[in-house]
Amino acid sequence: MKILGIETSCDETAASVIKGDSNGKNVKLLSNVVTTSLPLYKKTGGIVPETAAREQIKYIIPVINQAIGKAFKFRDSIFRAGTRKYIDAIAVTVGPGLIGSLLVGVETAKTLAFILNKPIIPVNHLFGHVYANFVGKIHNSEFRINNSIADINFSAVALVVSGGHTDLILMRNHGDIKWLGGTRDDAAGEAFDKIGRLLKLPYPGGPAIEKAAKIGNPKSFKFPRPLIDSKDFDFSFSGLKTAVFREIKTMKELDNEKVANISASVQQAIIDVLIFKTLKAAKKYKVKSILLGGGVTANQKLRNEFKWKMENGKWKIKLFAPQKFLCTDNAAMIATAAFFNYKPLPWQKITVNPDLYFI
Ligand code: KG4
Ligand code: ZN
Repeated sequence: MKILGIETSCDETAASVIKGDSNGKNVKLLSNVVTTSLPLYKKTGGIVPETAAREQIKYIIPVINQAIGKAFKFRDSIFRAGTRKYIDAIAVTVGPGLIGSLLVGVETAKTLAFILNKPIIPVNHLFGHVYANFVGKIHNSEFRINNSIADINFSAVALVVSGGHTDLILMRNHGDIKWLGGTRDDAAGEAFDKIGRLLKLPYPGGPAIEKAAKIGNPKSFKFPRPLIDSKDFDFSFSGLKTAVFREIKTMKELDNEKVANISASVQQAIIDVLIFKTLKAAKKYKVKSILLGGGVTANQKLRNEFKWKMENGKWKIKLFAPQKFLCTDNAAMIATAAFFNYKPLPWQKITVNPDLYFI
């Protein structure tokens, strides 16, 4: 089955075609096109929703055409009736996200489903991040590529860490999930972004802090590890931002060395909490796999430390993380989530849901 995925929940406009085997053991990535309006936000230091949606209106059709063209090696428009034979279904992100942005993808997907007479599957963006682990060649505990997705055994604990969310979920099987906990305030990615702004680093803060941290000492500042000892699986990162703000206020100037040391220390604080809580959940629910997902899991230090902890603790649980380009927003993960949770709806029933969640 070949599925066209469409993703426009934030500032990215993405389309992808995946091919899933009928036995559910292999998902091949045929194309993956992602554009972003990020360069427009240099001055604002964050996304402007209205601008994002206006840009997405311009990009959406060319991006879909490119995804179809790359997958099937032809140059034509998806709106031509002849393209009907190439894809079997359309998957689209319906939430959570920015309402204007979501509408661009959803209305385009519905129009295509109607014109091409194809089934359409609504997808929760957060599930998408988990399903990035199931796309094509996958990364295992040693983050080596080339394993089969058949290696991912249930039950699993999934950690979704993105710009808007930090959640732990228990997956007993595809479509059988239980939400274990999430952030009470800022998401981990949001903390990276806000602290990046305090450090006058470019947006988004996550990759910028990771880069600055490379020459910093993670032990130079003792930032809090919020809720690390709490009995639940909740997170809280807004206090971390306040702690960094207070630290900066005491400084006469913020030179490169201080930026590097704060970056390394704050990155370490976030990583410590994420790993501790995820392993706690994995232990409690005696799972077979841990699945990472979302933009923050592109962080190499987080990946290395997770791997190191698992190996040193002699955990029998397998750790999976998407290839880095699939950690941040893309449409391949949306198409793959639809493949494993194939529940088409009549296009008239598909609506955007900016506040969609796991529960
Ligand atoms: O999943 P994503 O692309 O979009 C959302 O669904 O929100 O995640 C974006 C978030 C941003 O907050 C960004 O700073 C963070 O992921 N991020 C990172 C890294 N790359 C992206 N955080 C830490 N280290 C990174 N390398
Ligand atoms: Zn995302």
